[in-house]
Amino acid sequence: MDKLVIRGGRRISGSITASGSKNASLPIIAATLLTGESTFTLHQIPDLVDITTFTHLLHHLGAETTFEGNTLKISSKNVENIQAPYELVNKMRASIYVLGPMLARFGHARVSLPGGCAFGPRPIDLHLMAMEKLGAKITIETGFIDATAPNGKLQGGHIDFPISSVGATGNALMAAVLAEGTTTISNAAAEPEIETLCKFLIAMGATIRGTGTTELEIEGGCTLKAIEFYNVFDRIEAGTLLAAAAITGGDLTINGVEPEQMKAVLKKFVHAGCSIATTENSITLKSPEKLVSTDVTAKPYPSFPTDMQAQWIALMTQAEGTSHVTDKVYHERFNHIPELNRLGAHIEIHKNQAVVHGPQPLSGTKVMSTDLRASASLVLAGLVAEGITEVLRVYHLDRGYEKIETKLNSLGADISREKYNEF
Ligand code: EPZ
Repeated sequence: MDKLVIRGGRRISGSITASGSKNASLPIIAATLLTGESTFTLHQIPDLVDITTFTHLLHHLGAETTFEGNTLKISSKNVENIQAPYELVNKMRASIYVLGPMLARFGHARVSLPGGCAFGPRPIDLHLMAMEKLGAKITIETGFIDATAPNGKLQGGHIDFPISSVGATGNALMAAVLAEGTTTISNAAAEPEIETLCKFLIAMGATIRGTGTTELEIEGGCTLKAIEFYNVFDRIEAGTLLAAAAITGGDLTINGVEPEQMKAVLKKFVHAGCSIATTENSITLKSPEKLVSTDVTAKPYPSFPTDMQAQWIALMTQAEGTSHVTDKVYHERFNHIPELNRLGAHIEIHKNQAVVHGPQPLSGTKVMSTDLRASASLVLAGLVAEGITEVLRVYHLDRGYEKIETKLNSLGADISREKYNEF
């Protein structure tokens, strides 16, 4: 098992280029299952455990892939296995993304129900509702979703999501492009990762209206082709790196970004006292002498993202005053708080709100990662804690951050990755 050993007290400063988005890569990779024609070339795909897990699933289904640098080539010509096994789906919930494309292309898909998640229930009822609205018959037996399209073809329909769901919107889009007839989606997720999926599907030959909005219209029955595509940047990695600069009193420029997609997060950094300057594809953050407590409420895009909630809490431990951090997407996404408190933070949890009392000096000790963004918040805290912080079970971190210690060390951090055994 790996741990990160962090010597705190060093400023994070300099400039760096953002990686490609994990959460945009996954639906794009799934969408390559929609056509067996030729080979896709996907650029700016981050080298992450989740990407590796997903390509293993595609291999299991019969696809062929090569991954060099950050370019992933995929051919789904020989895909015929329509079953996504528990062992792979349980490793990564986003494996559910194969449901839509497999059902649309083959008229049948069997996908294991995803396992549990560290921060509470993450149902998939909206994914199944969307498939049923497109005519699918769905049964759940022995832990598997078995979905079939009558006569092998889905039919266009109207999908009205009661709540915004990134994954269910992605599955609905990928199913609708091959359905017969037109599909409309109301209350679609408008996250940049879904906007990027729409652009990808349109480049493949689909007709989609409303890209980037919560109302989408998809003409079905189109002919799709394999394409070359450049993935969008990872706005959560970028936000995490900006938080690393802010928590250590550093100054950081991130290149290869689209500031427009980070408006809610940048606004909060400004409220917290940072100065933010942007160009068309860069963001520069300068830290203040003192951080100011700043409340955030995590909601669907374009609001402050839930995937930045844990990192924001870590930052607010160093801010003057009391900050209220509310998560309206995942009400139980607070496993990082007991670990942050072990470092000396003073944070209370009231239902789906964390109350962060600051500033609190932190002192290094061993802390345990529990999920991807929780582990990021522990790394941020370790950067500012006095002495040595050891973040255990960094396999959580490796799922969503590409070479995070290398990047932070290039910006002034002192982090080493070491093996260890758990009792
Ligand atoms: C995506 O997960 C992201 N993952 C998550 O990022 C992110 O936190 C989440 O969207 C919200 O932005 C990927 O893109 C791979 P949802 P997803 O469906 O699609 C409820 C990370 O750290 N819901 O938008 O699974 C759900 O419980 C990860 O990179 C249902 O009730 O999230 C939640 O409360 C963690 N029924 C809300 O909707 C469903 O069928 C939003 O979930 C589906 C979701």
